[in-house]
Amino acid sequence: MLGPVLLAAARSDAIRRLVSGAPVTRPVVDRFVAGERLDQSLHTVRSLTDRGLDVTLDHLGEHITDRTEAVRNRDAYLDLTDALAAEGLGPRAEMSVKLSAFGQALPNGHDIAYANILPVVERAAAAGTTVTLDMEDHTTVDSTLAILAELRKRFPETGAVVQSYLFRTEEDCHALAGEGSRVRLVKGAYDEPADVAFRSKRDVDRSYVRCLRILMAGKGYPMVGSHDPRIVAIAQELARRAGRKQDEYEFQMLYGIRDAEQRRLVAEGHRMRVYVPYGTDWYGYFMRRLAERPANTAFFLRSLATR
Ligand code: FDA
Repeated sequence: MLGPVLLAAARSDAIRRLVSGAPVTRPVVDRFVAGERLDQSLHTVRSLTDRGLDVTLDHLGEHITDRTEAVRNRDAYLDLTDALAAEGLGPRAEMSVKLSAFGQALPNGHDIAYANILPVVERAAAAGTTVTLDMEDHTTVDSTLAILAELRKRFPETGAVVQSYLFRTEEDCHALAGEGSRVRLVKGAYDEPADVAFRSKRDVDRSYVRCLRILMAGKGYPMVGSHDPRIVAIAQELARRAGRKQDEYEFQMLYGIRDAEQRRLVAEGHRMRVYVPYGTDWYGYFMRRLAERPANTAFFLRSLATR
């Protein structure tokens, strides 16, 4: 019940101001966000790669309302790409991008987002790294997949994200399971209506397994984005049945969530990529983390109570 309320709050400017300004919020945010500055996030990246984990970095930002902000976000990613190249992190660290931060929701947003993401993908390729396009709410899926298809003509390693809660996603998995395709499968983090998405956890989980079966049996590179122990076990079994070696798929989890499990998978020889968000615009990301798990909200409320 709390989930939809928190997801609605994630879009409210008034609640954003209240939560962002509260002094108690910061330590809780730090659990999920690797700092506000690029140098802080690089420090986190180093500590993760030193322990055998790979990373994907997200410069936080979404739903911008004018073109200058889109250009600012593009430039932040260009700086990030340069920093990854300078630190020699290219192959171990990739980047995750939300196209709404690149102008996708503006009038003529599809073209604006494409024009802003293209130089980032170009520079990423030159730096030996790559970009994965995060997936946002269902109204953006067609545009995001169309931009992905365009980018993949020159940069086939550009990654996609699909969400198992959407009815359409099994079809999308078939379309994306070809040679060279990198696809992160997640359950989905937005509050979607019942005419486009499964609403019960059971249905979302079942859809996840159906989608994963398609991706594992395909010719692409599946990226299993989930903290769910059942999904992790099923992924290993499906990979085994598909004859995939450990370097022919990977697990992905969010920074600050199930760290011990992340390390355990690495110790077992799996590829494990941690999604590392950084930046000042952490509010929407933070609220989605609270919404998807009552224990996260309880942690936040407890820290309020102990102040
Ligand atoms: P779910 O939330 O269903 O939890 C299942 C089980 O996992 C729990 O019962 C528990 O055992 C375990 N678990 C989950 N959270 C835990 C925690 N905090 N501590 C301990 N155990 C926990 N979404 C989206 O819409 N677009 C996107 O682009 C992305 N990108 C993305 C990247 C990566 C790397 C990840 C891991 C996730 C995303 N997501 C996303 C978010 C995703 O859609 C989803 O909301 C969360 O991953 C939560 O779903 P889970 O599959 O983790 O399981």
